[in-house]
Amino acid sequence: MAVREIVKLGDETLRMKAKEVTEFDSHLGVLIDDMFDTMFKADGVGLAAPQVGILRRVCVVSVDGGITKYELVNPVIVKASGTQRGAEGCLSCPGKSGVVVRPKKLTVQAQNRYGETKLYKVDGFTAVAFSHEMDHLDGVLFIDKVISEDD
Ligand code: CO
Repeated sequence: MAVREIVKLGDETLRMKAKEVTEFDSHLGVLIDDMFDTMFKADGVGLAAPQVGILRRVCVVSVDGGITKYELVNPVIVKASGTQRGAEGCLSCPGKSGVVVRPKKLTVQAQNRYGETKLYKVDGFTAVAFSHEMDHLDGVLFIDKVISEDD
């Protein structure tokens, strides 16, 4: 387990589309563990693999300080409903924040590090984090979606 360097705005990795994970090996497990370490060290609630320079469809989320930890490999939105707006920031965009509109509820299908398929139904801030992190996998940053600078 190790803390990795978080790439910042201006690094083109953040703007590229990440590739599907096809190998569910020990490297994937190490990457996921490192991503959790990196996220918690930075006091974040989510982190996507492109943010540590890895162009693979992997993200991690924990909005309660590690009590509930989500590892999302090849995540896909199955259903989205409602909207909510709230202030966001991003570990790759230090000093920036702004209000973004996100789905209120999400159903997401994803694999875990072992390749097992899971279905997650999330709402509220967890849904915001899922949406924000999944955007990273397509090179989309929250700053692209900001509707106002403050709430
Ligand atoms: Co982010």
